[in-house]
This record gives sequence, C-alpha cells and structure tokens, in this order.
Amino acid sequence: MSAKVPLAGVVGFPIGHSKSPRMHGHWLAELGLPGHYVPLDIAPDDFAEAMMILPRVGFVGVNVTLPHKEAALAGAARATERAQRIGAANTLTFLPEGGYEADNTDGYGFAANLADRAPGWRADDGPVAVFGAGGAARGIVDAMIEGGAPEIRISNRTRARADTLAAAFGPRVTVYDWQDPTALLDGAATVINTTSLGMAGQPAFDLDLSGLSRDAVATDIVYTPLDTPFLQAAAAQGTRVVDGLGMLLWQGTPGFTRWFGAEPQVTPALRDIMLAP
Ligand code: ATR
Repeated sequence: MSAKVPLAGVVGFPIGHSKSPRMHGHWLAELGLPGHYVPLDIAPDDFAEAMMILPRVGFVGVNVTLPHKEAALAGAARATERAQRIGAANTLTFLPEGGYEADNTDGYGFAANLADRAPGWRADDGPVAVFGAGGAARGIVDAMIEGGAPEIRISNRTRARADTLAAAFGPRVTVYDWQDPTALLDGAATVINTTSLGMAGQPAFDLDLSGLSRDAVATDIVYTPLDTPFLQAAAAQGTRVVDGLGMLLWQGTPGFTRWFGAEPQVTPALRDIMLAP
C-alpha cells in the first residue's frame, strides 16, 4: 500500500474557467510532490454536503470561489480572524477532528503581489484610494488596514455599498465621491481598481485620473486583459503600475503550503503558464 495521495481543488459554480488547477498543478510538478488539484463544480444547495464528503474521499482542503465564499465561512468549524473580518472565505483546510478551518487569503495575495512587483511599496506609504466596494474590495481594505495604511478612501458607483464597507472597517475608512475622483486621488500613495470596469466584455474604466501623483503605485484586480484601461490611464500620468495577475498567484500560496507541505514560488514562468490560452 502506498501513502495516500493528497487531493485539493477549487469549488465554484460554474468553475470551468478557473485557472487555479493549472497553477497548483504547476507547483506540484515543480516541487515533485504527490497530489492532485481539480476543479469542482458544486451547486449552492450541495455545498454543505460536499464539504462533509470531500475529506472522506481524500481531500485535504479546497479553495472556494463564487458563489460560495460567504457560505464557506458560515459553515466553518473555525475561521481565521481575517476571514471573519472580511466576511468571506477562499481557502478551507479540513480538520482531523471533522469540519474545516476557513481562511481568506485575498488581501494577503493582493499585498504580496504589490510588494513583489513594486519593490519598496508598503501599505503604510500613505493614503490608499480604492475604486469599488464589492467582495474583492473587502479583502483589500482589510489587508491595507493590517498593513498600517493611515487612511483608506473608497468610492463606489453605488455609494450605499461603500458606506456599508466603511462602517464595517472603522474610522480609518472614509467614503468619497464616485463621479469626480480629484479628492480621492489627492496625495494617495496607493490607488486600486477593484471594480470589474475594464475587464474583457465589461465597460471601460473612464474616470479622470489626472489627479494621480507620480509617486503613487496603481494596481488593478482585473487581469483579463493584463494591461487594463485603468492601468493605461495611470501609466499615462507617470505612475508606477502593477497588473492584477499576481494577486491570483499569491492568494493561492498559503493553501498550497498547508495542503501539500511545501512553499510554492511565484515566478515569471508561472505567469507565462497562467497567461497561455
Ligand atoms: P467583486 O467580488 O469582484 O468585488 P462585486 O461584489 O460584484 O464583485 O463588485 C463589483 C464592483 O464593481 C462593485 O464595486 C461595482 O459597483 P456597484 O456596487 O455600484 O455595483 C463595480 N462595478 C461593476 N460594474 C460597474 C459599472 N458599470 N460602473 C461602475 N462600477 C461598476
């Protein structure tokens, strides 16, 4: 009898488009580790039952994506503090005693990508300006608070959603006007697009970025295309820009380390693999 081969995967509905299997498969091969990482198409009604069955058939953990991120947190035996603050989970690790621990590595992935691609960047460099107030924004705001950002400014097309986010994260977060980003951008050290604007098939990001400082770092969570209208507009102001692909890569590293027992690397070769059709 050989030792059990650890299984992991990504749970979504639908899941066909996910590039996570490609990434974890690359890491397993590169590190010469036994294991498999597979896409799991699971409907919301089946989620809780699937989380009971998967560990019995050899799964050590799973990533979860839309629409399961909130349900994954709600069903957890325990959850990290950051997952609780964000209100959603993306990385689940099955526990020997039953159930699973829920974590959220989105904000970690976001900050690790910026540190990697904009050397010297720190969350506490100055005010952080955030476009958007959806699920992705929550993880990013949490990571910026943890990183010591002195002030986080949010603007969102639907202002009430920004108000809710600001109320959840406390006095360092304030809400700004969506239409005119002049005040939002004034003196901001880090500027982030967390909206879906600029994504292939979505409307372009067309807000005026002329108030952006040359000393800022601008980044987008959209990575299809890699060079988004937001990043193009920021680069036109002379601002350093970081694309969004690395956030996906870095958010996957803590789960891989936990499940398969070795720390994976985020390399140019991995980027190329993820960008291949
Ligand atoms: P995610 O989890 O990726 O953040 P989401 O929760 O659906 O996804 O959030 C999408 C974000 O993109 C929101 O900030 C949304 O703004 P609203 O809250 O007003 O919907 C923003 N967004 C999407 N389409 C937009 C558009 N056409 N114009 C402006 N903002 C848009």
